[in-house]
Amino acid sequence: MKVVLAYSGGLDTSIILKWLQVTYDAEVVTFTADLGQGEELEPARKKAELLGIREIFIEDLREEFVRDYVFPMFRANTVYEGQYLLGTAIARPLIAKRQIEIAAAVGADAVCHGATGKGNDQVRFELGYYALNPDIKVIAPWREWDLTSRTRLIEFAEQHQIPIPKDKRGEAPFSVDANLLHTSSEGKALEDPWAAAEEFVYSRTDNPVSAPDEPEFIDIDFEKGDAVAINGTAMSPATLLTALNDHGRRHGIGRLDLLENRFVGMKSRGIYETPGGTILLAAHRGIESITLDKGAMHLKDEIMPKYAELIYNGFWFSPEREMLQALIDTSQDCVCGTVRVRLYKGSAQVVGRKSPMSLYSMAHVTFEEDSVYDQRDAEGFIKLNALRLQLLKQRGRVQEPP
Ligand code: ARG
Ligand code: SIN
Repeated sequence: MKVVLAYSGGLDTSIILKWLQVTYDAEVVTFTADLGQGEELEPARKKAELLGIREIFIEDLREEFVRDYVFPMFRANTVYEGQYLLGTAIARPLIAKRQIEIAAAVGADAVCHGATGKGNDQVRFELGYYALNPDIKVIAPWREWDLTSRTRLIEFAEQHQIPIPKDKRGEAPFSVDANLLHTSSEGKALEDPWAAAEEFVYSRTDNPVSAPDEPEFIDIDFEKGDAVAINGTAMSPATLLTALNDHGRRHGIGRLDLLENRFVGMKSRGIYETPGGTILLAAHRGIESITLDKGAMHLKDEIMPKYAELIYNGFWFSPEREMLQALIDTSQDCVCGTVRVRLYKGSAQVVGRKSPMSLYSMAHVTFEEDSVYDQRDAEGFIKLNALRLQLLKQRGRVQEPP
């Protein structure tokens, strides 16, 4: 068997790599992606080589990630269960897609990931795999092996001469997933939903309490619903999100402590940091508010929870997600212009918006006298809207049916 492993270079995936070799006698191909998780990738190459891997794929996918996954999702103002910006969920389809492409390129018949059997990520990876290659064989070691405790994992690593970093000998305090959009921490020390997370859990944002006392104002330009420039400087999608992350970090923006419903049924508690994404969401809503028609906007808002749920549950490569995406993308044709955002101690607040495609009409909205709007029209408008309310109330007054 030849298998393409999603390999971070960390201890757990190194154990998986070895386990594939000894359990399946598999020829392992490693795939390590830079999605902006902020880790060096070259050590992963060294480690893979040490473990006897000959085909090693290391790829910088940051631009593709932001351009083809994050930005399309932000066009819909996507949040799951009112809060979660889906930072982990949106990265999984891209990793799955590249694994399947690499499997085809190297003639592998299987793919493998390091997600547990209790979470969402296994579902997201595997729905992606099967959607893109219905015949692929999937290996999910965490659902199969008997290395069910930290002690056993460490024993296995020692038996097979896998180097164990000092800080990895004991139980990790919690599990972390990071990319350019967010960092999530969950499990173990964070499992008690009543216990507030300690400050050291937050790695991507400064504490809003000690953030600068002076607000900062930034201008974000949009074209077709995507952010394209900050303070007049045009940037590629990944460069722009990186810059927003820097702004967000300084001002302590985008921290979340939440309890969510997993696809597999249980509730879980997570600490999320989405600094740039939180600014982007506010700014995108700001530019839509001045450029989008009310009917279009309200329809988008109605379908958004459905769209968010599809992404959360791992159905990125599904016809219904693509249909919703087509609708969302069509709505963005005139979503262009500039939004001014005020960053201050954990908040990102829109304070100005302007657009060449503006639907905002000073002439109509003014409280001064105007010539475009006849206030007398409002009377009939209200009366017809009130008609059924009046009929309802009148019925209530009738005691006996006539
Ligand atoms: N609960 C989040 C989700 O389902 C994050 C999952 C991965 N996070 C982690 N720390 N392992 O998208
Ligand atoms: C995991 O179980 O591997 C991480 C959490 C999740 O996928 O929801």
